[in-house]
Amino acid sequence: MFQKEQQFIEEKIKTFCKANNIALAELKWQPIPFAGEWGFATSFFQTAANEAKLSKGNKVPVPQKAQEIAEQVKGQLGSVEGISHIEAVKGYLNIYFKTSDYARRVVDEVLSNGANFGRGAKKSETVMVEYAQPNVMHSFHIGHARNTILGEVLARLVEFAGFETIRASYPGDLGLGVITIVWAYDKFYKGQEPIGVHERGQWLLKLYVEATSLLEKKDNESPNETAQREAYEAERREMYRKWDVGDPYVRDLWKTLREWSLEELREVLRMLDVKMDVWFYESDVDEPSKVIVDELIARGIADDERPQGGAVIVKIDEKLGLTKEKYRTNVILRSDGTTLYLTKDLALAKVKFEQYHVDRSIYVVDVRQSLHLQQAFAILKLWGFPQAEKCYHLGYGFVSLPEGAMSARRGRVVLFKDVADEAVKRVLSVEAEKSADIPAEEREAIAYQIGMGALTYSMLSVDNNKDIVFDINEALSFDGRTGPYIQNAYVRANSILKKSKVEGQKSDNLGPSTFDYELTKHEIELIELVSQFPMKVQQAAEEYRPLVMASYAYDLANTFHSFYHAVNVLQTEEETTKNARLRLVAASKQVIANALRLLDIQAPDVM
Ligand code: ARG
Repeated sequence: MFQKEQQFIEEKIKTFCKANNIALAELKWQPIPFAGEWGFATSFFQTAANEAKLSKGNKVPVPQKAQEIAEQVKGQLGSVEGISHIEAVKGYLNIYFKTSDYARRVVDEVLSNGANFGRGAKKSETVMVEYAQPNVMHSFHIGHARNTILGEVLARLVEFAGFETIRASYPGDLGLGVITIVWAYDKFYKGQEPIGVHERGQWLLKLYVEATSLLEKKDNESPNETAQREAYEAERREMYRKWDVGDPYVRDLWKTLREWSLEELREVLRMLDVKMDVWFYESDVDEPSKVIVDELIARGIADDERPQGGAVIVKIDEKLGLTKEKYRTNVILRSDGTTLYLTKDLALAKVKFEQYHVDRSIYVVDVRQSLHLQQAFAILKLWGFPQAEKCYHLGYGFVSLPEGAMSARRGRVVLFKDVADEAVKRVLSVEAEKSADIPAEEREAIAYQIGMGALTYSMLSVDNNKDIVFDINEALSFDGRTGPYIQNAYVRANSILKKSKVEGQKSDNLGPSTFDYELTKHEIELIELVSQFPMKVQQAAEEYRPLVMASYAYDLANTFHSFYHAVNVLQTEEETTKNARLRLVAASKQVIANALRLLDIQAPDVM
């Protein structure tokens, strides 16, 4: 926000150091939190250390030397426009703004940039975020929702931070689990088709539960039952074999059911406001991955033990020269010629790098697949992909239920759609009296925004590494650290602006902001938080941590609520002060909106 001053001062420091033959280290600036004034600072410790290394310091200790340099620089700078004063303290150069100037500039900057406030400068790298990749025919449950929300928020963050961003999905659409459902459908339900996208998706899950139970060995099975179960098992295996050789009947049926499932997935993504750019399927990379196996053998990365009746393996640790066991040895082709999950991930990565020119590749996948992904990244490195260094696994903890782990096979899952419906119902029952004047349809739309806001934030406010025991009452709560609490700050800001009779929050309609008065503590805190937004965007994107933005949004909302209770904006007597405060409200509203958007949470105008 203050690049101009920063650049100007940096130039002066560089010129000074050059002229005086001082080995200036890279200048790192940081904001000075408000303590009477705002400012920014840099230190000269590294520069002093450089000097000492070159034996130029006449043995002056580094801290003392840093202070000397800071003082010399300060002497050199004189007065700078927009800066109230400059200090050289303990090796630091502290540069302060006039408070009213700073406040005005922060607010003006927000209002003139609007929805783009905080957007980072365009970066040269392309980032692909892969998420929302459940296995097909399993219906979307609350664990998938955590994955999708984390992935979408990460994508929004890196995109807003300035990276070219590609959103990718990679549903698992093959394997015995998938075939089990095709078999059950063909055997017991052929020709049936429930109406409704969600109904159809959920029905497939029901079939899976049923089939699993039929195929499962029971205690005290009668001989008849055993025979029956074994016959079913043989049919399932036969179907798998047929799928594998491309039998048209099985493939067609598989495609139809897969499409039912994907239709539901696409509908859920629409509900979550997720727009995928690329769809990869495991089945698409199966064949290409076989070619890769040959390439890895030819390049000496993989060992072909098939002649000895073995498989094709990669001794990752050995090839990397590691003496301690880390990535272990992995099979990449079974002796029967079939590929593994790992093999397909190698093929997928190649497509991402070569066809999509991805520089950074992020995988949002639950932590149980951590070793698998580290193994894949290690093989990519052996293979020679420079991007292997920039593959990143954003792992997340398990979502379980109070009664234990979710299990699709047992039908013990909490479906996302059910939670979303329940969320709307609950909000409507609370809001019905409060907002009787709002037309029913609109009320429903707002209830959806609030209910989903609660659910989404509950998935983001927990560190991604932590497990979540899903409790619907907690997830849909409105109080405390929740989505609706943040949405409510937005609504309040909005209502102040509406009541002030200022059309919308357009900056031109608010007149100039002149913060030439004694700012209250609440205003100072609010301005400080608002000014931090661009930095938080960069931090969250660089560290791949949605939680940084989730926490920031809460802090901002909390600070706004305190301000709202302490400072009566509309009753402010002095016209210019009132105007400045209204502009601060408008700026806060804008930044809350921007933060909510990054968190994939909508900002309702009323609630
Ligand atoms: N479909 C997988 C699952 O449900 C997740 C895919 C993760 N991505 C990957 N590139 N392996 O477990």
